[in-house]
Amino acid sequence: MTLHRGFTLWFTGLSGAGKTTLASRVATELRARGLRVEILDGDEVRTNLSKGLGFSKEDRDTNIRRIGYVCRLLSRNGVVAISAAISPYRDVRREVREAIERDGADFIEIYVKCPLEVLAQRDVKGLYKKALAGEIPNFTGVSDPYEEPLAPEVLVETDRESVETSAARIIAELERRGLVP
Ligand code: PPS
Ligand code: ADP
Ligand code: MG
Repeated sequence: MTLHRGFTLWFTGLSGAGKTTLASRVATELRARGLRVEILDGDEVRTNLSKGLGFSKEDRDTNIRRIGYVCRLLSRNGVVAISAAISPYRDVRREVREAIERDGADFIEIYVKCPLEVLAQRDVKGLYKKALAGEIPNFTGVSDPYEEPLAPEVLVETDRESVETSAARIIAELERRGLVP
């Protein structure tokens, strides 16, 4: 079996923007092309590796550093590590990127962008209704910061394109960079 080069795909964006959906689509496509893939989804990580952490800046930073550390271990061992967490703070995203790149692996940041109005309409989990009613303190984009990436490798605008289009654009960028067969 050929050992492919590992790398990290780092999805970032507000709740409901499409991180989980796209991470899963892209993972399926990469596996079909013979790559080994692991997804670290914020929601899921918070039930095991980050159990007990909340949504203060300090806890979010801890969560992201843990996810970043696992991505680094996987990436340097030939696995495609996919993070699908909000990761709202630019500095910690940069810190994780630098650690992964220092190990010689690529870090591809994908900004999953969608305006708040559309997210509140989608309200996949009913969280925006509560947050906008003031019932969830520190809710990203409503009562807590989200620092947009300034130069993401890929930008997908999920209010304007289908899931299939966004996923295909991400795969195309990975092909362009020679990261996938
Ligand atoms: S972070 O900021 O990266 O540590 O967040 P993450 O680990 O991705 O967790 C985000 C998921 O937790 C749910 N949730 C909240 N999100 C944002 N702000 C607050 N206060 C909050 N409380 C709960 C929500 O389901 C997020 O999942 P996604 O998939 O983004 O909707
Ligand atoms: P997140 O993990 O960022 O909270 P989810 O993947 O759980 O977001 O939810 C995103 C929702 O938006 C899904 O219902 C999905 O079908 C929808 N959606 C619409 N267009 C897109 C797109 N281009 N990419 C991803 N999701 C999209
Ligand atoms: Mg999600």
